[in-house]
Amino acid sequence: MSELSVKHLLGIKYLNEKDIQLIFETADHFKEVINRSIKKVPSLRDITIANIFFENSTRTKLSFELAEKRLSADVINFSAGQSSVKKGETLIDTVNNILSMKVDMVVMRHPNPGAGIFLSRHVKASIVNAGDGAHEHPTQALLDSYSIREKLGDVSGKNVVIVGDILHSRVALSNIFALKLQGANVKVCGPKTLLPKYIESLGVGVETDLRKALNWCDVANMLRIQNERLDISYFPTTREYTQQFGVNKKLLDSLDKEIVIMHPGPINRGVEITTDVADSKQSIILNQVENGVAVRMAVIYLLASKIK
Ligand code: CP
Repeated sequence: MSELSVKHLLGIKYLNEKDIQLIFETADHFKEVINRSIKKVPSLRDITIANIFFENSTRTKLSFELAEKRLSADVINFSAGQSSVKKGETLIDTVNNILSMKVDMVVMRHPNPGAGIFLSRHVKASIVNAGDGAHEHPTQALLDSYSIREKLGDVSGKNVVIVGDILHSRVALSNIFALKLQGANVKVCGPKTLLPKYIESLGVGVETDLRKALNWCDVANMLRIQNERLDISYFPTTREYTQQFGVNKKLLDSLDKEIVIMHPGPINRGVEITTDVADSKQSIILNQVENGVAVRMAVIYLLASKIK
């Protein structure tokens, strides 16, 4: 029987191409399950999962919780804002206290890069990284690639441009790793100040002219400006950013071909994309959210099979 090469999902960096294919094939099965009238399977009846979120989330938190419940796992939710973390408890103590309640898997979002890696070395549970600072967001990248595969048949050989704040984006880094692993051609596009100097060493092209980038690509993944991570100004004003790096319908319709528009959310409508682009037939933004549940079911199911 096929299994993942890893015990934790800490980043796409630690996966190989076979892992991604296994996750996608398993997600295909779960996507069929969640479209049935009875959307639940008993696979993880004996597994308890803690979702611990030290940072805000809408999509990822709800999607993980739904995925866990669709697999019949027992689920507990923890938000740092309402916990004893405020009283000075360390991350390891917090998680070990949760684990002493016989928890098998921890899904964690944390503002510090590497928090999941740190935890995986100190606690006895399978760790799933739900976003660690500006480092990685592996399940987002998996659901993004899964959505490209669903829309275009394959990821290999496709031209994908990631537009926006690459410097502060865990979505960008995880997507680059995932897309390259599957044989896609990847470019990043944005203001030079928001493109890390090392980015080309990851095998990624750089384009600062949005129209050129869009005419090259099959898929444009539009990122928001990570205002919560900006310590200084990286561009003059939001209006100027939008003029140079925002996609509107007029620009989209003037391209040489019909491209696919993606966005991990949350969207800042009118900044990186206009409403008529976000809601256009070229946008697969809500398909990404739908696929997130099936992909997260696959990740949890495959990791849980390594616990037993
Ligand atoms: N895409 C994403 O991670 O969204 P949330 O921050 O709402 O979870």
